[in-house]
Amino acid sequence: MKFIASVALLAGTAMASQKEFKLKSTGATLSQHDNLYLTAYHTGAGTNDAVFQSNATVASNFFLNGTNAFADLKTQYPWGIEIQSDTNYAAWDSVTINAGTGSDGFSVKGGELVWSEADGFGGWLICDWNHGVPQLFYLDRYYDDKIPSSCSKASLAVSQ
Ligand SMILES: *[C@@H]1O[C@H](CO)[C@@H](O)[C@H](O)[C@H]1NC(C)=O
Ligand SMILES: *[C@@H]1O[C@H](CO)[C@@H](O)[C@H](O)[C@H]1NC(C)=O
Repeated sequence: MKFIASVALLAGTAMASQKEFKLKSTGATLSQHDNLYLTAYHTGAGTNDAVFQSNATVASNFFLNGTNAFADLKTQYPWGIEIQSDTNYAAWDSVTINAGTGSDGFSVKGGELVWSEADGFGGWLICDWNHGVPQLFYLDRYYDDKIPSSCSKASLAVSQ
């Protein structure tokens, strides 16, 4: 019993040793989409959408492991940020935080979370969407049509 408890403690420590951060929207083209915190919005068993709200205290914590980005939702299993339709070039599409390792290709550059340009990343979009709160989408770098007027281009700053 004691042995199991100390193994569990070690696993907990390994998780906690990953440097965690909040993700805050900056430079949004629509001011109401600025200075908001990325937060997992539960949509079903093992699935979340990536939405924004203004309270840092209730915002999700995130961490990188290699090129996978995770939300720490205080469970034993990982919740990876996943770029939807990441092979569908020249579009913009949703981003989820689902059980599993999510998409490869995340990194922090200049204090901001970005996805892989080689895979077509052209920036983040924040749109007023179907949960009644702003929601995260990604923009393909080859997309050259208009984005909806309810969407902002924005950056995701790593913050404490
Ligand atoms: C990070 O990735 C490595 C290699 O895939 C894995 O063994 C480890 O459990 C991961 N750590 C966390 C905290 O997810
Ligand atoms: C942020 O959330 C915390 C925890 O629920 C709450 O105590 C606090 O009042 C909230 N702050 C604001 C400004 O709403």
